[in-house]
Formats: sequence, structure tokens, C-alpha cells
Amino acid sequence: MSQPIQTIFWKDDAVVMIDQNALPLEEKYLICRDYREVVAAIKDLTIRGAPAIGVAAAMGIALGTLHLCPASQKAFRTSFDDICAQFSRTRPTARNLFWGIERMKRCFEADLSSADNSLDAIKQSLINEAVRICEEDIAVNRKIGVNGRSLIQNGDNILTHCNAGALATAGYGTALGVIRAAFEEGKNIHVFVDETRPVLQGARLTTWELMKENIHATLITDSMAGFLMKQGKISKIIVGSDRIAANGDAANKIGTYSLAVLAGAHQIPFYIAAPLSTIDISIQSGEEIPIEERNAEEVTTFRGVITAPEGFPVYNPAFDVTPHHYITAIITEAGVATPPFQKHIGELFESGNVDGPVKSCHSRGGGNPE
Ligand code: MRU
Repeated sequence: MSQPIQTIFWKDDAVVMIDQNALPLEEKYLICRDYREVVAAIKDLTIRGAPAIGVAAAMGIALGTLHLCPASQKAFRTSFDDICAQFSRTRPTARNLFWGIERMKRCFEADLSSADNSLDAIKQSLINEAVRICEEDIAVNRKIGVNGRSLIQNGDNILTHCNAGALATAGYGTALGVIRAAFEEGKNIHVFVDETRPVLQGARLTTWELMKENIHATLITDSMAGFLMKQGKISKIIVGSDRIAANGDAANKIGTYSLAVLAGAHQIPFYIAAPLSTIDISIQSGEEIPIEERNAEEVTTFRGVITAPEGFPVYNPAFDVTPHHYITAIITEAGVATPPFQKHIGELFESGNVDGPVKSCHSRGGGNPE
């Protein structure tokens, strides 16, 4: 097995992340010593994928707080809230972003009212919490893999869209985590990778990850997927998600909805793999999920090469929402939810079988909670 991919980590008072815009041509790391560099890295997709964005925001908040020298507790809170607000304006669809920020806020409030609420203790506690969120995410993904691998059979041809792998998380991946887990069990599988226009996360990132693992895979353009389904070449579809509503409607990379409808037409199982931290039980349906719109250049150019007439109108929603009735199951770390999702998602949250996302801060000292 190859070395695990290190998407993001905390090192020597800096947030270090693999530069996903440079992949697959170059494997280089961005070292952020100022939290505003982390904000920029989230916006420009240097780091992307909902769970990875949540971890980046948590680490960015810890980094921003580390450099504060407030004159009073009130000033401390104001500056902390301002840093959090900057992260919350980066990627509106990713539920994990807000989940990560909320967790850092809870940690901060608990620290302020704890016995040792010195500035240094609070700063260290926030670093510990961010590192913990990162480590928990990897553990959660491994559980998603274990819970999902029994859905994969020997000989399966699995289609995936975008990148829901180690690069989109702190490590291991959600949809690719299930594929990894089935492969690690010795199952003979083959993956079709959608290139994923316009940013090509499939062509650039998912291929890179699968190649590293020696998982047998083939790259296709997004528009080929329907024909492959008709030809009987795809036995399963597994994708990640950026936000899931309480009724199971799931937002994911633009193009996912078309795949789900086609899967329904061809009776192909369509799975979503995501941690509970992606599920937004405060919203009833996908109608309420904010959809990020990105700039026109993503559509009219490719790596500096102009591919459309200058100034031509463009619409570039980064995500779409798949209605729950097209989804066969949602694979989480707490178990696999099947329809009716409203009921079964609720049961997963109540099961207590969750030791990742519901935990929050409270231990001090040392970056590693273990
Ligand atoms: O715009 P991106 O690259 O951040 O979009 C990522 C996706 O749509 C992923 O499928 C999703 O975040 C799930 S990743 C585990």
C-alpha cells in the first residue's frame, strides 16, 4: 500500500496543505503562517472538498487566534468572531465548513469560562481542537469505508464523480474511502472516474489518488456516463456530498443530479457517502441548501487557455441537489441510512453510535488527543 496522502496538517505554528491546484503535475505543499492565507486557499480551491474545508477552517481559526494580543476579553471575542466570520464567507454549500467553525466557537466559549483561561491556554486549546477535528475526520472516513464496503461486490464497476477521496477530507475519503475499503478487503473492482467539468477534480485528483493506490480505473468525460450506463458498464455509483438535508436530499458537485436520474432510469444503485457532519438536520429539504456560484473564468478558460468568446454570458453553479428519492442509501460512520431517510437519518444521530462529530473540546495540553 502507498503512503497515506496528507491533505492538511498543523506543523510548527503553521497550517500545511497539499496544493490541489498544482496536482497532478506537481506535488507541493502550501505553508500558511497567516490565517488569511488559509481563507484564500479555501476560496481558490487550493484545498477543497467539504470535510477538508471544515478542517482547514478549524486550523485557520486556531492560527488566526494564535497571533492575537487582545487588550481585554471583549476585544479577544470580537477578534475571534471576526476571524470566524471570514471563514464562514468562503464556501457557502459545504456544511462541514460551518460545522468546523461552530465547533471552534464552542471550544472558545468553554475555554473562556474555564479555570485556566489565560491567553496561552486558550490558544493552545484551540490548536488542540483543530488537530482533533482533523484526526477524527480520518477515523470517521475509515468507519464510512467499513460500513460501505459490504455494498460493493467482486467485479463491480463503480462510477464516481468529482473527488471525494483523501484530498477532499483529512485523509482516506468518503466515496473513495468506501472504494478503498473494498479494495483493501481484496475485492476485484474497477472505477470509472468522471472528469468533472469545469474544474476537473475527477481528472486531476481522483485519478491521482487511484493511481497511487493501484486501484484499476478509467477516466471518462461527464457526458459519457449515460452511455456507459446504457451499455451495462456501470454496476454502482458512489459519490460524496457537501450538504445533506434532514430528508436525505444531497448537494454535491454539479453533474451529480444528472447521474442520479440516469442511475434511476437504468436501475443502478446510487450511493452517497458522507460523515454526519455533512448532514444539516436544521434544514428540511434540499431547497434550502445554498448553492455556490463560481466565477465565469472556470467555464470560459482552462489553465489560462481561452475556450469561449470573450465576455460571453456564463452560469456556473458549483453544486446541484439530488432529491432523496434517487438515492439508494447514505453511508455514514454511524451506519447506512436507507429510505425513509428522514426517519433513518434521525435514528443515526440518536444511536449514540457516533464518536466523531458530536464530540467537542475540553482537553488541554498536547496537540494529540490520543
Ligand atoms: O468544489 P469542491 O471541489 O470543493 O467540491 C467537492 C465535492 O463536491 C465533493 O464531492 C464533496 O465535497 C464531498 S468530499 C468528501
